[in-house]
Formats: sequence, structure tokens, C-alpha cells
Amino acid sequence: MVEMEPWEEHAIRRPHLPERVTVYEVGPRDGLQNEAETLSLEVRAEFIDALAEAGLPAIEVGSFVSPKAIPQLADSEELYRRIHPVSGVRYPALVPNLKGLERALSVGVREIAVFTAASETFNRKNINAGVDESIERFRPVVARAKEEKIRVRGYVSTVFGCPYEGDVSPEAVREVVHKLLDLSVDEISLGDTIGVATPADVYDVIEALYDSGVTRGVLALHFHDTRGTALANVFAGLECGVTTYDASAGGLGGCPYAPGASGNLATEDLLYMLEGLGVATGVTLARVVEASRRLAESLGHRPSGRYLAAVWGSNG
Ligand code: HMG
Ligand code: MG
Repeated sequence: MVEMEPWEEHAIRRPHLPERVTVYEVGPRDGLQNEAETLSLEVRAEFIDALAEAGLPAIEVGSFVSPKAIPQLADSEELYRRIHPVSGVRYPALVPNLKGLERALSVGVREIAVFTAASETFNRKNINAGVDESIERFRPVVARAKEEKIRVRGYVSTVFGCPYEGDVSPEAVREVVHKLLDLSVDEISLGDTIGVATPADVYDVIEALYDSGVTRGVLALHFHDTRGTALANVFAGLECGVTTYDASAGGLGGCPYAPGASGNLATEDLLYMLEGLGVATGVTLARVVEASRRLAESLGHRPSGRYLAAVWGSNG
């Protein structure tokens, strides 16, 4: 007998997806680092508080990097002093070196993220270090953070493509992921910095990582939505069992050192799809929309998120 494809039998086999995922909000950091205008501390603190009230379990507040590199977030210490922490919510910050860690510790930060890349050129442009050099730079940072019992995320940028070098191989990703894991980071976020991935690339990279012993609980996925594939990529990630997804309220975002990159996957778009799939997040979509609406008033332009455009219509 000739075997039939599922669609010929009209028997759709639904994939088994995780029941619950963590949405890691990067809007206040990845979103606002890419805005031409620096928003006031008051507006940013209100944005972060509104996101926490919406039920987001992790909100990246800012970064302790060189003020010359990212002037928009230069006052992250003061921002940490202004927010009203909600019990159970994590408030991580980006830290590139020991100086950044000292700044973070001075305002009681309990979770940091170090960041490197799978391609040399992007890493040099972004943090003025090659990949191996950056790992050596992180070694004392992660060791000190561990002494302080601080949770550490390790970002890997350009996992699916580099704005300067083009294609990046899953092997290059695997190598840098293992170097970060050897430093004892708690989580690895795989960044599609310039939004080039398709689901096939997601399967390839995650397969290479699983085959090399990386466990799924360690991974997070961070998609920029430059080519409209971010949600499809999340779906591929869900099929692979990944349970942490980065997203940015309104779909703001980008990296000034990644030409051509546009906003992150919008938190609202992600939540809408997860709700439809019955994957729990604990986040109230309408409250995230409200946080984005308030922020948009200060930004003076409409964020690019698709769900927002649908609910705001032409008069939003
Ligand atoms: P450098 O020039 O090699 O650093 O920059 P340096 O150690 O030689 O210091 C140069 C100057 O910066 C000195 O000041 C330092 O004090 C100061 P000066 O003496 O000239 O007045 N400095 C600092 N100031 C404040 N806080 C610090 C700090 N460190 C040095 N922590 C460095 C190296 C890493 C500092 C710089 O390149 C930098 O800050 N880069 C950050 C770039 C960045 O934030 N990019 C965006 C975030 S990454 C991203 O968006 C991707 C992601 O979303 C994932 C994805 O999408 O792929 C995470
Ligand atoms: Mg990013």
C-alpha cells in the first residue's frame, strides 16, 4: 500500500509543544538602545513597571556599557533606583566587563547578561574584542557574579548570520556556546541579530547543540523580525522544546552595531501566538499593549508590532 502524507489523509498531526514558556522582555534595553531619542528616566521607569504589572517574569532594564557606545542607556544606575520591583520578577542588565559588573552591583542588580557573538567581525564592532578575547574578559565577571550568587545569561549574537561576514555555521555557534557554558553561565540566548533565520536554520542550530550535549532548559531564543520570520522561528523553537523566548514590547529594537537589523519580535505578537497555541506565559496581553501605547506617546512614533497595528487600527 502506498503510504499517504498526513495532509492527504486529512489527519493533521499536531506537534507536541511545551505547556508553559518564559517570555523574557528586552524592550527597555534592546528596544530603547536603538531609538534615536533618549527617553526620560521617568518614562522608562513607568514602562518597566507597567511591563512587570503585565506579568512579564523577566525584564531587561538596561545596560552598563560604555556611555559612548550606547548613550541612550548611560543612566541605567538611576533607572534601577527608580523602578518599583515586583516580587518574583527578574530585572537583568547587560554587562560587558568588570567595570559594568561593579556598576550593576552598586545598584543591587541580581541578574546580568554577558554578550559575545558567533562571528569575529560583529563582535569586534560591538564590544571591541574577538570572540575568544571576550570569553577571557567574561571569566572574572562571571566568577565574581557567581560569588555574589547572581544569575548570568550569556548572549550569542549573529547565530544565524553576520552583517559583516554573512553565513555563520552551526559549528561556530556550538563552539562559542560551549565556551560560555564552561564559564558556568546559567542560560544561553541565541541571537538572530539581523533577523535572517528561517525555521530550517533553527532546527539546524538547535540540533547541533543538542547533539553536543547542550540541554534544552539552558537555551533561550532571541529573534529580530527583520524579514518577518521571527514567529515561524519561535514555532520551530517550541517544536524543539525551547522554553524561553526574548521579545520586545511593541517590536522596538536593534543593535546600532548591526546595520540593517530591525526590531525584535514584538512581545504582543509572541503572546498572541502562544495564547492561540495554548502555551501558558502568565502575561496579560492587553496590559502589554497598554504599556506599549503609553511608551509610543513619548516616542512620537508607532512601534512596528503587528498585533498593535491590528488593535490600534488607523486611529491608534
Ligand atoms: P573599549 O573601548 O574596548 O573599552 O570598549 P575600554 O575598556 O578600552 O574603555 C574605553 C572607555 O570606555 C573608557 O573610558 C572606559 O572607562 C569606558 P575613557 O577612559 O575613554 O573615558 N568603559 C565603560 N564605561 C562605563 N561602563 C562600562 C565601561 N567599560 C569601559 N562598563 C566596551 C569595550 C565593551 C566597553 C564597548 O565596546 C561597549 O560598551 N560596547 C557595548 C555595545 C553594546 O551595548 N551593544 C548593544 C548590546 S548587544 C545587542 O544588542 C545584541 C543582543 O540584543 C543579542 C542580539 O540581538 O544578537 C544582546
Ligand atoms: Mg538583540
